[in-house]
Amino acid sequence: MMTGSLKDKHIVLGISGGIAAYKSVSLLRLLVKAGAQVQVVITPNGKEFITPVTLSSLSGHPVICDFFTANTGQWHSHVDLGLWADAMVVAPATASTIAKMANGVADNMLVTTYLSAKAPVFIAPAMDLDMMSHPTTTRNLDFLRSIGNIIIEPKTGELASHLVGKGRMEEPEAIFAILEQYFNAKSELKGKKVLITAGPTVEKIDPVRYISNFSTGKMGFAIAAECAARGADVTVVSGPVSIPVPAKVNVIKVESGREMHRVAMSHFANTDIAIMCAAVADYYVENYSDSKIKREEYTPQLILKKNPDIAAELGNIKTDKQLLIGFALETDNEILNAKQKIQRKNLDFIVVNSTNNPHSCFGSDYNTIQIINKRGDITPFENKPKSEVAVDIVNFITEQYL
Ligand code: C5P
Repeated sequence: MMTGSLKDKHIVLGISGGIAAYKSVSLLRLLVKAGAQVQVVITPNGKEFITPVTLSSLSGHPVICDFFTANTGQWHSHVDLGLWADAMVVAPATASTIAKMANGVADNMLVTTYLSAKAPVFIAPAMDLDMMSHPTTTRNLDFLRSIGNIIIEPKTGELASHLVGKGRMEEPEAIFAILEQYFNAKSELKGKKVLITAGPTVEKIDPVRYISNFSTGKMGFAIAAECAARGADVTVVSGPVSIPVPAKVNVIKVESGREMHRVAMSHFANTDIAIMCAAVADYYVENYSDSKIKREEYTPQLILKKNPDIAAELGNIKTDKQLLIGFALETDNEILNAKQKIQRKNLDFIVVNSTNNPHSCFGSDYNTIQIINKRGDITPFENKPKSEVAVDIVNFITEQYL
């Protein structure tokens, strides 16, 4: 692993009120030793577990807890702090702090700083097993993950309550390694132009009706976020979706497959890596009606025409310097069909989505994938959150093709 990636980096270390706060001292020491500048922001409850004196001595900066210092009236600007940060780490993140972050409850400096932060935010939950597995916590974490935060999964082991289960904050060394890796990877795709198609397409029948599919765009947007985090210049051509746009990603909204085709074709010459994630409808309605078709008039016959195959057309014109990646979703003979798609569309590799796992694919925050390359080698991956699947896919690109 490269060293020195944390030198001079600005890190906001957010500490909330859990027993695991004692581990934050070790994390702080590791960060300071690596040359990072660390500003600790602690919640009022956090101070019950660890003293600001310890933290300010180690970090070399006064610890921030209140919105202003009572005796001097000095105002602590969460906006300045949010802009100053190259990364924010919330460790430990209690159920309450996670809930506040997920809902924008800005009643302390930690959450206000989080809401002002432009940099990536790493969240290391720590709580009892029942709180951890409660649907409220799961929902809050899923939401925080879906908008681009990085959740550092807690471990299973003995908890402060002496119960054994999932909820132990990840060890400081492991959190440190994740941050180090993040800063190492940050510039891997610098200078690369990435084009991603995402979401479904909508093929209108008349002004109020359409043909579409269940794609949510989550996988494509997760890959976009990961590429942008590694320094790429990312454009997503997206069908209608209702998910937040990740930081530093340029989104071009389209409706139909033909529009998506037009935009993708016009951007491709200036693209290094094209990732075809969209679930493009196979057909559009040729006899689209300008006015709403009335039910009582007649039973309409839709004439369907094949949409352009965007991936195949890009495959036709692609140069040796460009990478083209496709996705496949099949219910039968998935491997054979996927291999044929690599040839037919001239892809460099294909990501096969499993339809066999109920916690995968359309609509889910999780996915199970296999990657097949041009030679037919298959690399399988575990079922995991789409943000982590995106990391696997981008790692595959950087390790095998760049
Ligand atoms: O042929 P099939 O739809 O199964 O291929 C899936 C792959 O091709 C995906 O990468 C998808 O984004 C892409 N595709 C496309 N244009 C189409 C149909 C599929 O780019 N019209």
